[in-house]
Amino acid sequence: MNILMIGSGGREHALVKKLLESPQVTKLYTAPGNGGISRDSICVDIPVMDKEKMVQFAKDNSIDLAFVAPDDPLAAGMVDAFEAAGIRAFGPNAKAAVIEASKVFSKDLMKKYNIPTAEYEVFDNAQKAVEYIENRNEFPVVVKADGLALGKGVIIAQNLDEAKAAVKSIMEDKKFGESGNHIVIEEFLTGPEVSVLSFTDGKTVKPMVSSKDHKRAYDNDQGLNTGGMGTISPNPYYTDELAKECQETIFEPTIKAMVAEGRPFKGCLYFGLMLTPKGPKVIEYNARFGDPEAQVVLPRLKTDLVDIVNAVIDEKLSDIDIEWSNDASACVVMASGGYPEAYKKGIEITGLNDKGNVDGATVYHAGTVYKDGKFFTNGGRVLGVTATAPTLDEALEKAYKAVDKIHFDGAHYRKDIGRTK
Ligand code: AMP
Ligand code: GLY
Repeated sequence: MNILMIGSGGREHALVKKLLESPQVTKLYTAPGNGGISRDSICVDIPVMDKEKMVQFAKDNSIDLAFVAPDDPLAAGMVDAFEAAGIRAFGPNAKAAVIEASKVFSKDLMKKYNIPTAEYEVFDNAQKAVEYIENRNEFPVVVKADGLALGKGVIIAQNLDEAKAAVKSIMEDKKFGESGNHIVIEEFLTGPEVSVLSFTDGKTVKPMVSSKDHKRAYDNDQGLNTGGMGTISPNPYYTDELAKECQETIFEPTIKAMVAEGRPFKGCLYFGLMLTPKGPKVIEYNARFGDPEAQVVLPRLKTDLVDIVNAVIDEKLSDIDIEWSNDASACVVMASGGYPEAYKKGIEITGLNDKGNVDGATVYHAGTVYKDGKFFTNGGRVLGVTATAPTLDEALEKAYKAVDKIHFDGAHYRKDIGRTK
């Protein structure tokens, strides 16, 4: 099979490395990819949102399967475009991807189908939103932009002033553009967070092993929210009992709800959960693999990913057994100094071999370029240094040992991955 991976981050590198384990893969292309991905697959310089060029490339290069990994092209209908051209594609179509692309849609879906989530109200008017927050008078309160905002459209306001500023920045200053035409004002929940990615063909949902993301930039959960500074799998808070409960109260009802809405979801559906004192609740859905969740979940996958992808596309997921390793895995993200705010690019990275790896761990490249035999930084999150081992402690030790071997000026990473709530 010839496969085209779409995307350019650490998640896509993890998917590429997993696909390379499959004996069924002949040629693997990534568009646009990055420095590390270019050492494992053939990178093609097509912008991630350019549907026409992607489809043309797939036609010209006998692509058997297109794998659309990031949220933006999914929401923009890239899977629809491949399907219209008769090319098999993994990922939800635009109608189903709305479960991530619109928080208003996903909240209304959960309310309609009794799927546990935080209480909320939707507003298209800033003044009404502020009046509601004033009358409710409970803090913290959560203010969310409706649309995609690079994971940054959620503000936890500690008091009325912060809440007013949040509403203003989203709805009036349009900090996240059109994503802020509607906002969700939501009850603040507490408890450990769990990421559960799942495979689903629209009928059957098979959860993958659980994971835990560390979203804040600095140790002890200080600093701004980021795309994710590190992950572990499994998530120590997610017991077998909870998994069973979530399957019954969240995963299956969601799949059925999407069918009932005429939007069957096929691909990877990511459940962002919070284990509250009142039971597990959905914080958000993502229509794709998490980043850096994929970097700890995929290394534990033993079944051929190509077989799973085919089963999802052919709606035969119930026929296939998906096997996971019992090992634990840990990913430490090395980021550019300053991230998630302004940072420099083009800084040389040392300590990696010519494949972009180090001994004792797997290095998934998120923001790098490869030039004249050297790797340079090219993004906020630069590398996801990942190790697996029989225990979480050992996996963390291996990952941090590998991090010590890698250098670039300004590099910043959390020292407490796997150690916080
Ligand atoms: P989201 O983009 O919806 O996943 O939100 C980003 C992060 O904000 C989540 O991972 C949570 O840590 C936090 N968050 C979102 N909604 C809530 C909520 N209702 N209560 C508490 N924390 C929340
Ligand atoms: N790591 C969180 C996400 O991918 O949305």
